[in-house]
Amino acid sequence: MAKVYEKSAEYYDMFSIVPPDRELEFIEHCFKEMSGRKIQDILDAGSGTGLFSIPLAKKGYKVTGVDLSSEMNKVARGNAEKEGVSLKIVEGDMQSLPFSEEFDAVICMGDAFQYLLTDEAIDAAVQCFHKALRKKGILIIRITNFLAMMEDFKDVVILPIETEDALILRIFKYFIDEIGAVMNRVDFDLIYKDGKTKAVYEEHKFRILSLHEMKRFLSDATFKKIKRFRGVGEGGVKVKASKLMFVALK
Ligand SMILES: C[S@@+](CC[C@H](N)C(=O)[O-])C[C@H]1O[C@@H](n2cnc3c(N)ncnc32)[C@H](O)[C@@H]1O
Repeated sequence: MAKVYEKSAEYYDMFSIVPPDRELEFIEHCFKEMSGRKIQDILDAGSGTGLFSIPLAKKGYKVTGVDLSSEMNKVARGNAEKEGVSLKIVEGDMQSLPFSEEFDAVICMGDAFQYLLTDEAIDAAVQCFHKALRKKGILIIRITNFLAMMEDFKDVVILPIETEDALILRIFKYFIDEIGAVMNRVDFDLIYKDGKTKAVYEEHKFRILSLHEMKRFLSDATFKKIKRFRGVGEGGVKVKASKLMFVALK
């Protein structure tokens, strides 16, 4: 499994321009209204810098983050320390998790799931999530709805971000492998800080997933009560939601 976010981990939090508040609200709503059990232990698969793990830990949940990137894990540990929260971070691949009936909830947020490119990889991860959950535990997966964005597809997207001491130009180059259902993205992140520039080059490949495929992957792993929600955190219901949330129960 190719690792990502080894070079760009230190910049990830700067790029997270949309705070995850509404998605966090949605997650807690699902915990309260849809889960078959009280939520205490949470597994955050592809936890990154702790964008979701840390606020959930702050709210009193016991959170374990698992991520393939040692650099993202390092940033997450630093963030948790800064915030004074206790968080267990494990370096690992969500396709081969060592957990059995240890969690009330598994979350997989921010495109982490779409780094699984093949049906086999997805099946393996979803089975691991199922095994990691206790009876009637809840699974929440967020995906980017690349299919809804195809009509407006641009092969180059430039996104300027201004922070206190830097102007960051995120230059995304996209190309699609339609047969493999893979969206390729190459990031050139030019960081201007104190007159200095820096370019970070990293290649990201995302699986393009349809609603029906997601439903099939989840039901093949015997998940029940599969539901799909659209546009969470996008400021109202959109005709073409760019993000989709899948919620299911063990
Ligand atoms: C876009 S980041 C999302 C991080 C976090 N969930 C968030 O929403 O901010 C994707 C993360 O998934 C991790 N990742 C990708 N494939 C993985 C795998 N097979 N197992 C565990 N983590 C993986 C990457 O290392 C990266 O930290």
